[in-house]
Amino acid sequence: MKYLALLLFLTPCLTTAQMTLREAAAQRSLLLGAAANADEFGIPNRLADQQYAGTLARHFNLLTAENAMKWQVFRPTRATYDFGPTDKLVSFAAQNRRAVRGHVLLWHNGVPDWLPQYAATASPSDMAGLLEEHIRTVVGRYKGRIFAWDVVNEAFNDPAGSAPVTLRDSIWHNRPGIGRSGTGFIEQAFRWANQADPSALLFYNDYSIEGPGPKFNAVLAMVRDFVARGVPIHGVGFQMHLDINGYPTDAGFAQNMRQITDLGLQVHITEMDVRVRVDNRGNATDRDLQLQAGTYERIAGLCLANPKCTALQTWGFTDRHSWVPGVFAGFGAALPFDANYQPKPAVEALLRAFRSVPPVLSANAIVNAASYRGGAVAPGELVTIFNARYGPSTLRSAVLTPDNKLASEVQTAKVYFDNIPAPLIYAVAGQVSAIVPYEVAGRAETVVQYEFNGVRSNTVTLPVARTAPGIFASDASGKGPGLVLKLDYSVVSPTNPARAGDAVLLLATGGGAISGGAVTGALAPSSGQQSEPVTATINGVPAEVLYAGPAPGLVNGVLQVNLTIPQAAGTGDLPLLLRVGGVESQTGITVSVR
Ligand code: XIL
Repeated sequence: MKYLALLLFLTPCLTTAQMTLREAAAQRSLLLGAAANADEFGIPNRLADQQYAGTLARHFNLLTAENAMKWQVFRPTRATYDFGPTDKLVSFAAQNRRAVRGHVLLWHNGVPDWLPQYAATASPSDMAGLLEEHIRTVVGRYKGRIFAWDVVNEAFNDPAGSAPVTLRDSIWHNRPGIGRSGTGFIEQAFRWANQADPSALLFYNDYSIEGPGPKFNAVLAMVRDFVARGVPIHGVGFQMHLDINGYPTDAGFAQNMRQITDLGLQVHITEMDVRVRVDNRGNATDRDLQLQAGTYERIAGLCLANPKCTALQTWGFTDRHSWVPGVFAGFGAALPFDANYQPKPAVEALLRAFRSVPPVLSANAIVNAASYRGGAVAPGELVTIFNARYGPSTLRSAVLTPDNKLASEVQTAKVYFDNIPAPLIYAVAGQVSAIVPYEVAGRAETVVQYEFNGVRSNTVTLPVARTAPGIFASDASGKGPGLVLKLDYSVVSPTNPARAGDAVLLLATGGGAISGGAVTGALAPSSGQQSEPVTATINGVPAEVLYAGPAPGLVNGVLQVNLTIPQAAGTGDLPLLLRVGGVESQTGITVSVR
């Protein structure tokens, strides 16, 4: 054991200096992306450039096409498609196991010359047919490989003072449009995209909506209406093309994100860049690069603080290839890596945000590990904490201490109940499972806090109950076949049903205190029983409980109940319920009886 401790001490920590952006983002359950190019517009294939492709793959776990998925590239003529550049981007992503965002299906810009010419004489139904075919073809082709699409981009006008913002005139809206009034053309595009790939996340994307104002209000009103009427929309993309002059304010951006995520939608930051003034050789001042770094850090931090801000993309990643100098005269150097692919202060700033922004706990994200029900916690209950979004980038399981207890730390992840460290079952960025210490028994409430990498979350206060039973499902989904074992330890299932009269055992948690006491985190001894009375029914018929107590060899807090399948229960996949201390387990758990 001494040697083991020494080894652990010598194992080098991955310091943030050595960490890539991608590794740091993975600890935050954040998709960190960049817009990239292949060989569209006849440019030499950038993915064949080692520095370009290497930096992209090393630092980002998400990519999108800067131009390759626009009509301009996809549709050389009305009758043909060119998927070449997008295919290259998508297979590069697949080889590197990176996610892909699609950009964009309906936009007034980025269209081939033939399209407005055609629109000038086309009828609305011609335009509708063309758009529908395009969306079905493109979304269908990349089904399962592009997880999210910007379905519609920049459909609203720029604000003029405080007047309400109107929809932009375009070939898709009303020149001639596809024959739908108001936001109907946008809705129609979402519906077609959803039909083509029902599992893709569909986004509305726009600029100048990062701060409060009439443009954001117009987008919010549309999105609210879509959500209320069940139009398939899953998120809003905030483009985030910024300069260093303090727009948006932190509070304004956080509030806009919250108004979207309160509707149950996600937010992606889709096209971030932060332009600064450059001299005629493209160089910025150190001071401006520091201010720029601060902006990247603030925006990343605000995103991390909202559990539904799930992706952050920069529009390009190297100042060598950026749209900024061509569009904003006198500006440039807007991206995290310089023109020689070296990290700028913005990279260190993003790493700082990823390292130091506190994880987020919310009461409804702390649930029984078996039933996924929230609310009061019971002493010894195995709980799962979702979405704290700071933890090991890959799943790390429980560690045993030298005295055979479950450690209260897994790769620096810790959970506290009233400052008592809780034994941990596993930890990964978006999901941590812990055991409520028996010490909370008798208290009215308990204060929960999570910590990773030395950074503590906010606290959440939960009521303490004597029991909060949940039966484990055999597929860990909280419902369906329960984790019920025959005496030969085979799992009961529809293909391995139990028989009436059989003794079986089930595993649950939330049974509360053990008579005589139980040591938090210790492996269960072969004796002991629940303090609170335990009863069970199968298909509503009481089942004789032969034993209810700790599961020998498993950690204290796992409740094992041995029972007999009652003769009168019948056959089939029958509902199974436990009642511990008067509290019932979740509904929806079954046991198969033949
Ligand atoms: C830009 C590209 O970066 C340029 O290379 C291209 O010439 C024009 O389009 N908002 C968007 C993006 O949604 O598609 C735009 O990309 C930048 C503004």
